[in-house]
Amino acid sequence: MKLFSHLFLFIILFGCIFVNIIWGKKSIARDVKHAQEGEINKKTEALLSRLTLREKIGQMVQVNGQNGQIPDEFRTAILNGSIGSILNEVDVKTLNDIQRIAVEESRLGIPIIFARDVIHGFKTIFPIPLGLAATWNPELVEAGSRVAATEAATYGIRWTFAPMVDITRDPRWGRIAECLGEDPYLTSTLGAAMVRGFQGDDLSAPGSIAACAKHFAAYGAAEGGRDYNTASVPGNELRDVYLKPFKACVDAGAATLMAAFNEINGVPATGNKFLLNDVLRGEWGFKGFVVSDWSSVTQLITHGFSENEKEAACAAVKAGTDMEMASTTYQTYIEELVKEGRINEEDINQSVRRILTLKYQLGLFDNPYTEPAAFPAVLNDNHKALAKKAAIQSVVLLQNNKYILPLSKDIQKVAVIGSLADAPHDQLGTWIFDGHKKNSITPLQAITEFLGPSKVVFAKGLEISRTRDTKGFQQAVDAANVSDAILLFLGEESILSGESHCRADIGLPGAQQQLVETLAATGKPVVAIILAGRPLTIGSILEKVDAVLYAWHPGTMAGPAISDLIFGVEAPSGKLPVTFPLAVGQIPIYYSHKNTGKPATKESWQKMYDIPVEAFQLSIGNTSHYLDAGFEPLFPFGFGLSYTTFEYKNIKISAGQIKMNETVDISTEIKNTGQFTGEEVVQLYVRDLFADRTRPVRELKGFQRVRLEPGEQKTVTFTLGAKDLSFYNRKMQQVTEPGKFFVWIGGNSNADLKTEFEIIK
Ligand code: BGC
Repeated sequence: MKLFSHLFLFIILFGCIFVNIIWGKKSIARDVKHAQEGEINKKTEALLSRLTLREKIGQMVQVNGQNGQIPDEFRTAILNGSIGSILNEVDVKTLNDIQRIAVEESRLGIPIIFARDVIHGFKTIFPIPLGLAATWNPELVEAGSRVAATEAATYGIRWTFAPMVDITRDPRWGRIAECLGEDPYLTSTLGAAMVRGFQGDDLSAPGSIAACAKHFAAYGAAEGGRDYNTASVPGNELRDVYLKPFKACVDAGAATLMAAFNEINGVPATGNKFLLNDVLRGEWGFKGFVVSDWSSVTQLITHGFSENEKEAACAAVKAGTDMEMASTTYQTYIEELVKEGRINEEDINQSVRRILTLKYQLGLFDNPYTEPAAFPAVLNDNHKALAKKAAIQSVVLLQNNKYILPLSKDIQKVAVIGSLADAPHDQLGTWIFDGHKKNSITPLQAITEFLGPSKVVFAKGLEISRTRDTKGFQQAVDAANVSDAILLFLGEESILSGESHCRADIGLPGAQQQLVETLAATGKPVVAIILAGRPLTIGSILEKVDAVLYAWHPGTMAGPAISDLIFGVEAPSGKLPVTFPLAVGQIPIYYSHKNTGKPATKESWQKMYDIPVEAFQLSIGNTSHYLDAGFEPLFPFGFGLSYTTFEYKNIKISAGQIKMNETVDISTEIKNTGQFTGEEVVQLYVRDLFADRTRPVRELKGFQRVRLEPGEQKTVTFTLGAKDLSFYNRKMQQVTEPGKFFVWIGGNSNADLKTEFEIIK
């Protein structure tokens, strides 16, 4: 007994010491941070007080680099303090020369902040962001962003225009490739991870760069999936869906935000005081600065919002756009507007204060120059290993009939068919300014290396993804006929997605469908590997092929990642971050839709070809569906298979009822019931049954990636509190209402293991 009480005392004592150490460390870190902030504020104020109005305006100006040149006019502008930031200059010598003029020759020596779109890697290219989202792995995404930041910083880039956290439910939109999918929770989690990766704990540390959450806001809600188009989103929906990831990035410490090109409910984002001032600063307490998008200030005129450039500058400044990218209305008109009393100089001070603060936080005043040798080599083995890991986890296995995959390493011969099997540029994906195809390892190279050249026969079939001429088919058929399996690379080139590269038909371009049919007719097993910047409507090939690996655009290490998956060195574990439509006409189609008053079911779906001739038309029994395309997507959000199988059972809940201030634990057992070691992304969905404003049929509220050996079982637990269940009601208040909630846990958004609980007052 005595022994036990001693042990008990010891545990308590040890616990107290441990808590104190942790707590003490945290509070010391907090104190240091406060002291640093205080110091930076002092320096900022002292510097600000010395700036002339023209110099202040200069800080609010961002211009494009001059391709490694410093023409006289450019030099003069830097010397006069008329430029605060430069984007797209990555020649280190030029960049240091520019910095030298700013720091050593201009009157006040304020350093320039160099910016760049570092979207999914710098030199080492990671999967496109939509592919990164398919990993559902925040730690990996954070580590990948750190690699990108380190490589960018090596070249003097200290500010990236990422993460892009625009929610979209429209795969026609080309920029879906750059975003993290359709879901606010997944996007918030991964967007915040990217911010942490880019910025680290300390912005002034080597390898840290400032993040920019973009495009604020609702850019992904563009009408018809046409880029730059109108977004009309009710205020409460705007907050529940589109603003949520931005709030998460702000909470993660994002240094900057970018105002979007589009208008929202009639007001372009760049001139939108409600968004940039009232919500972002007023409600969220954002302390960083906002940059416009490329010439989005002058586009206020095109939108029909401002009459001319002067009015556009006035509207943008007053709304809270601190820095103007590319267009030049700030340089030209702000001074006049201040003198006329239309803009208050204190508002200009506020913008400049924010910009200078970031320059201090980045340590640019102390270390303005870049010394590449001080950084690890770009494209080093560690960076490439991480890019490969991200590519592996991003690939989603959509179909695997009769477990045809993985292929045996002892296979005698494979036919590798399709131009995308050996497209070192296209595998990198969209928006890769600094990535280069010479560093890519293609699937063809990796498969040949893995099996040996004598076992691989390659034919393009089609010259590029858009080729309509079928003259290469015979060579592909010949290759198939001498092989034991066909590895058929399909999809779209990288240029078919990305900014303004929207498509009205998102099927396989060119004669790819015919190529699939021709090769299927050989009777050989066909494994389709699809490289694309968006979900494609691939329903019509599913019955022709045996397996489908959806690989997005996987980046530099596409080849080794895909080869490892095909031959079972690794098992697929990616999950769809976006719903795959059956047909374009179903768009928008997403898992967290509303129930409607007449929801469709399998039984209620009236199929077009089953309708009798001259049938009498009634409303009774009708539901919300298409006669020709039903109501279900091709693949649901969250979906993805592996080479093994997972069994979910015994969902448990810690309480049937909780109070508003309590939490509830929901757990499930998950077992690997197959032959392969595998990773599964366990997902938790919730439905709030009745509310002041109707709630979606399901909402993702948690996920965890678990690794299981064959036969291994684990218990996965999620905790939910009232805040996780909140939404904006009709009065625009963020509330959690008492009432009943359903909860599902499983491997995709159709999970059927279910429990429920109630929140009571
Ligand atoms: C894009 C932004 C990008 C900027 C700078 C614009 O066209 O919309 O996302 O950061 O260009 O390259």
